[in-house]
Amino acid sequence: MIAPDGRVVMISGANRGIGLAIATNLYSAGFCLSLGARDDTGLKNIIKEWDKSRVLVCRYDALDKESHTAWINSTVSNFGRLDGLVNNAGIWKNFSVFDESGDEEDLDLMWAVNVKSPVSLTKNALPHLRKSGVGRVVNVASLAGKAVFGSEVGYSMTKFALVALSHAIRQGGWDDGVRCTALCPGYVATDLTSSVESMPLEEMTSPHDLAELVKTILCLSNTASVAELVVNCRPDIVA
Ligand SMILES: NC(=O)c1ccc[n+]([C@@H]2O[C@H](COP(=O)([O-])OP(=O)(O)OC[C@H]3O[C@@H](n4cnc5c(N)ncnc54)[C@H](OP(=O)(O)O)[C@@H]3O)[C@@H](O)[C@H]2O)c1
Repeated sequence: MIAPDGRVVMISGANRGIGLAIATNLYSAGFCLSLGARDDTGLKNIIKEWDKSRVLVCRYDALDKESHTAWINSTVSNFGRLDGLVNNAGIWKNFSVFDESGDEEDLDLMWAVNVKSPVSLTKNALPHLRKSGVGRVVNVASLAGKAVFGSEVGYSMTKFALVALSHAIRQGGWDDGVRCTALCPGYVATDLTSSVESMPLEEMTSPHDLAELVKTILCLSNTASVAELVVNCRPDIVA
């Protein structure tokens, strides 16, 4: 696996869960990282032993569009280039059309964080990713972006949309070397699944295994495009 040669990757929601696992893995592999988090002071504390010449921490709030442009601009002015974007930050809220679970505000919030913010970050990042010639976008979607599980459809709708965005990025960016992968995991052992009762955390996919896959995707050459990567911890029908 070759890659680094100074490659710079942005990761949203890098302060915990899957995002932090990806950041830790990519840092060990030698990437330069620009880490986005709502609470950047907390993240600065987590990575205080890391080589600051390879790591930048910026404020990123999915609901504050100005923080998106500011984060991208700071990244490019600090490192002089941008080669990868991992749209990881996301939320789950219960929303069903069959009962009173969730209201429209929950749906709007999931739409804003899980879809509109990756759209905005991608639009801002694309000129730099095209310039890179080996630009990569990894969208952390979900198995719920490949299939609908039960009546809690709100989250699934946003993740289907993120998978659609991923295909559009891959097709539209292709000629300039931009490749995009929709990563679609089932249950992953993080805070997001801590209240799941149907499966113990130790039987769920580890965020570290996902991080290893993200590193591989980022290191692949332009002639090995992975459009979707479905990862599961149980034998669902879809994967
Ligand atoms: N865990 C699973 O089973 C699973 C399965 C499939 C896909 N996913 C997806 O994987 C991604 C990461 O999830 P996770 O399991 O690591 O969840 P997590 O531990 O709950 O972490 C969620 C991350 O998203 C960030 N975030 C949430 N709202 C934000 C906002 N408004 N602005 C900026 N950042 C925000 C959080 O930041 P704060 O710390 O500031 O809240 C945190 O860094 C999500 O997109 C999720 O949908 C998770």
